[in-house]
Amino acid sequence: MRLVFVGPPGAGKGTQAKVLCDRWSIPQIATGDMLRAAKAAGKLPSELIAVMSGGGLVPDEVVIDLIGQRTAEADASGGFLLDGFPRTVPQAAALDQLLSSRSQALDVVLALDVPKELLMERAVLRRTDKRTGQIYHLKYKPPPPDAELEHRADDHEDVVRKRVETYEQMTAELLPYYQERKLLRHVDGVGTVEEVTARIFAVFEKPVLDRLASRPPPHS
Ligand code: AP5
Repeated sequence: MRLVFVGPPGAGKGTQAKVLCDRWSIPQIATGDMLRAAKAAGKLPSELIAVMSGGGLVPDEVVIDLIGQRTAEADASGGFLLDGFPRTVPQAAALDQLLSSRSQALDVVLALDVPKELLMERAVLRRTDKRTGQIYHLKYKPPPPDAELEHRADDHEDVVRKRVETYEQMTAELLPYYQERKLLRHVDGVGTVEEVTARIFAVFEKPVLDRLASRPPPHS
């Protein structure tokens, strides 16, 4: 299974991606996480740090290169979930080219739909445990007392607003790109995490689920 997760900031892509990747034994490949890891390791140039902190998009070639390398790793040979990539039509076209050069293709693009008024609350109250990467929410999923919480630099209200604007501009071109290729499926992201997960699973028809269930677990 090779799938792409598209959705506005705070929609719940990372939260749902973890559930799907566990279920299907495929890696979650999130460009945002990769960029933040590079920043934490002191390897992200200061101009890219500034772009991210301001809620803009880093240049296409940077993320295309990251994805080219990461999807070539052994654990991605049987499939992967791309979380937050592609975000622009040039990124989508580069992904198509990359996959076709490996005789591969995308199976589905899931767009997680959440109205603007919910996004602010979801993003601003998000906290991540530094040690485990687990995503929490101060209201909907309170962290345990021993968690080492991080508040993302781009999760402040003014930056989230800018990220939502950036997302709206980007999807105006990206979603039609996938609609034309008949890959796009919309999922309503309003409701509890479990309700949204159930809606996502319902998108996949039984033959796909059977094929995935019959796959051996990784490292067996
Ligand atoms: P990235 O890290 O990809 O951020 P994003 O797309 O804005 O998405 P988020 O991580 O904010 O939200 P999410 O949908 O994963 O929500 P989550 O599950 O955490 O990108 C960051 C930056 O990197 C970009 O702005 C850009 O600068 C750069 N970048 C990355 N990729 C790039 C690319 N391809 N091209 C160029 N630049 C790129 O959930 C949010 C909160 O809500 C959590 O607290 C969670 O617990 C809670 N929650 C989730 N679901 C529910 C629910 N159903 N009910 C209640 N609460 C919920």
